[in-house]
Amino acid sequence: MKVFLITVCVFLTYFGSAVKLPSSFIKCDFKQTDFQECLTTAVQNAIRQLNHPFNEVNLLAIEPLEIPSLSIAAGSRIVFTQQNYKNLKFSGFNETTCSKVEFDVDTKTLKLDCVVPRFRIEFDYDLHGQVLLIPLYGKGSGWSIFHDNHLVLTFKFGEYEKKGKKYYNIIKNELLMQPREIEIDADNLFDGDEEAAERFKKILRENILDVYDDVKSGYEEAYGKIFAFILDGLLMKVPVADLFGEK
Ligand SMILES: *[C@@H]1O[C@H](CO)[C@@H](O)[C@H](O)[C@H]1NC(C)=O
Repeated sequence: MKVFLITVCVFLTYFGSAVKLPSSFIKCDFKQTDFQECLTTAVQNAIRQLNHPFNEVNLLAIEPLEIPSLSIAAGSRIVFTQQNYKNLKFSGFNETTCSKVEFDVDTKTLKLDCVVPRFRIEFDYDLHGQVLLIPLYGKGSGWSIFHDNHLVLTFKFGEYEKKGKKYYNIIKNELLMQPREIEIDADNLFDGDEEAAERFKKILRENILDVYDDVKSGYEEAYGKIFAFILDGLLMKVPVADLFGEK
């Protein structure tokens, strides 16, 4: 039965007809005069519905969003270690507010300006390197909260045709991510040496935004890819005309 279902799904993906937006999503038409305002409301409304997946349009649940593994490159001033994370679980997306979502039809560029008030990440980590001049090592689990996490996301779309219908795909993405404050905790730092761990965490907390600044571009690149992957799923399924009407 399972094999049969998978076969049917694959078949539908390749040969199935285009899919419309779920009826609970707000649809905005290129031609309506308040298209940009409509889009801002529609995107925020859609993000808040993603506490469950919409499989028919390839949208994953993002509350919580689970990612098997993620590596962030070392910084250049403070963080001299690659950060390796596993079993990540992101939450807080369902409370996102977007002050501006703009789509430029001519350049096919979508720009979102949003704040996630409490962006929480749970993770397993494996670290070996140097942070804030302290030789750091350990393997365990931890969490962090990015407070008032300001995201500016820019997606540039390409356009292609499938069975007579136009579709968008993402050809470039850029993310700027700046939290107001970061809380972080992890167990088993220094292989369980509590005293060394407390000393390190105190210094880390005092310098957290500076530390983030050093590895910010690595985070932005990794998270930008995740957001692009999620949106691409939808774009693959829903033709432009069913997203925004005819141009
Ligand atoms: C967001 O999800 C959390 C559970 O992860 C829930 O407690 C909270 O009420 C949700 N907020 C909204 C606005 O849906």
